[in-house]
Amino acid sequence: MSDKVPFVDPKKNYQMMKAEIDAAYFDVMSKGDLIDRGHLKSFEANLAAFVGTRYAIGLNSGYDALHLSLRAAGIGPGDEVIVPAHTFVATTSAVVNVGATPVLVDVAKDYNIDVQKMEEAVTERTRALLPVHLSGHMADMVRIMEIADKYNLVVVEDACQSLGAKLNGKGAGSWGLTGCWSFYPFKILGGYGDGGAITTDDPDVALFARRMRYNGEDRETGEYHSHGFTCLLDNLQAAFLDVKLRHLPTWIVRRKEIARHYREALSDLTDLMLPHYDDPRYDDIFQNYTVRSKQGDDFSGYLKKNGVEVLTQFRKPYYKHKALNLDDRGFPETEALSREVCSLPMNVEIDDQQVAYVIQTVRSFYGK
Ligand SMILES: Cc1ncc(COP(=O)(O)O)c(C=O)c1O
Repeated sequence: MSDKVPFVDPKKNYQMMKAEIDAAYFDVMSKGDLIDRGHLKSFEANLAAFVGTRYAIGLNSGYDALHLSLRAAGIGPGDEVIVPAHTFVATTSAVVNVGATPVLVDVAKDYNIDVQKMEEAVTERTRALLPVHLSGHMADMVRIMEIADKYNLVVVEDACQSLGAKLNGKGAGSWGLTGCWSFYPFKILGGYGDGGAITTDDPDVALFARRMRYNGEDRETGEYHSHGFTCLLDNLQAAFLDVKLRHLPTWIVRRKEIARHYREALSDLTDLMLPHYDDPRYDDIFQNYTVRSKQGDDFSGYLKKNGVEVLTQFRKPYYKHKALNLDDRGFPETEALSREVCSLPMNVEIDDQQVAYVIQTVRSFYGK
């Protein structure tokens, strides 16, 4: 059956802002501005202002942001970096690819790294903490910054799923040495292909990332400062992202509204755990609306069969993939949630009727 409620709807999203996107396209193309031009600079300035940092540096992907952040911090062989056991694999691959050792730590009920276990995992070799703000809800950065201060550690924030989220009024991606962003098409701010960025207050980190994204070259002087990479955010993508960034505050309001509908209509279902934490310090943006159902695949399968497109990331935790050669020290919370997670449609393309259909389908699974 074709989905009555899509998980995301990029065609509709384009139609919703066609005039502005088309205008951005024609502006870039008619000027012939393809690499490192005004649209990129404009987007970077607007992104930095939105996040609350001095600098933003546009890159090819969220992975590049993580990778260059670790390099900027001088992390490499012999160093340990603490990462969550429940995240997208790129978080940990970035650590492995700079030659450092990822130390996996279990998550808490909010899907983010368990800060007590994080502190217990610190050793003499620990150089950095790499918390992930999953699904639009920030990790406990207050505690994480305290741990970092206590043991003199670098903090890199994987904020790829949390643009606009806040804790104590301070934005995700503005706490650590860097915030790492992904503009993968289905992110809350998604481009039309891969894209990413680093945000930082540190001028040296900003300069390092600017050079490294362009093969180590300083674009003003032509001098190569190191062996770098090719991972610059395209000027055209930046132009599109700049348009979408203007809409983001309104989109966040709509996402919160959908989350409220889900909460009001599903809270009585005792076999379903909803992603609301009732801590007024946190301002969540609902990149994903991930519930936990005790019925696991039966629940997600029923929704799919009835035309509700859902994601079940991740049934198999990344550290269980043998080829990645990671240390599985046993992560009970990650294992439990992996059997149960199911992300309901959460996007600005769906209307209230579709939200009501999702609710009705969930309730009918539970015989309500
Ligand atoms: C938590 C997290 N980290 C890292 C990434 C990597 O971002 P990208 O796909 O842009 O490389 C993503 C997104 O896919 C993500 O969700």
